[in-house]
Amino acid sequence: MQLCRCRNYEEISQRAAELLTAQLTWKKDSTLGLATGGSPVGLYRKLRERFAEGLVDFSEVKTVNLDEYRGLAPENPQSYRYFMEENLFRHVNIHPENTYVPNGLEKDTETACRNYDAVIQRLGGIDLQLLGIGRNGHIGFNEPSDHFSSGTHCVKLSENTIEANQRFFERREEVPTEAYTMGCGAILRARRILLLASGRDKAEAVHAMLYGTITPQLPASILQLHENVLVLADEEALGQ
Ligand code: GLP
Repeated sequence: MQLCRCRNYEEISQRAAELLTAQLTWKKDSTLGLATGGSPVGLYRKLRERFAEGLVDFSEVKTVNLDEYRGLAPENPQSYRYFMEENLFRHVNIHPENTYVPNGLEKDTETACRNYDAVIQRLGGIDLQLLGIGRNGHIGFNEPSDHFSSGTHCVKLSENTIEANQRFFERREEVPTEAYTMGCGAILRARRILLLASGRDKAEAVHAMLYGTITPQLPASILQLHENVLVLADEEALGQ
């Protein structure tokens, strides 16, 4: 894993925007694996600005998001589909039919997961996967567990994650307890991975991901096995 030390969140966002722009210059029909949460918000803002300046073109881009809360409709402001529309999609020239997020309204887990894996396969895999990291080392919604999951699956969110994501909801009871997430296998098959980590509350997880044992108890540690991972982390996330 390659580590790039950044001064702060602003520098992470700036560098990530430069890398994504380079990816789309390199391959304008890239399939991007996208993430939600606070970590990529600054990056998406910079991509919107770059698009407005004519520096980046999304007309041939395809996107697959990592995860979605189970039970939330796309128009629910807390859903990850809504987040993506607000933060990126509706501001750039991406074709809506080229953007994929797991279907949170699909009640049948088998169907939801099978359909999403089929989408990823049909797109020919992921050229660049963007990731954040949870305080407990989760990636997507792959929570600490006794095994690594390969394909898309339904997870029961940990107390730690519910607590961390509570800030986006008015009340804790509103935070969904389940989600559909891409598996670690699909993430590892991405050709490139870019992970963003900012803030002191990520320091323990980041350290274990970079230097700890590879274990499903800290899902991000599996990234040590990938040949092309770049971690953009700020001083706080590096415990400095
Ligand atoms: C959520 C998302 C993850 C994200 C993580 C960290 O649980 N499912 O994809 O990486 O939280 O979020 P944040 O960037 O807000 O710290």
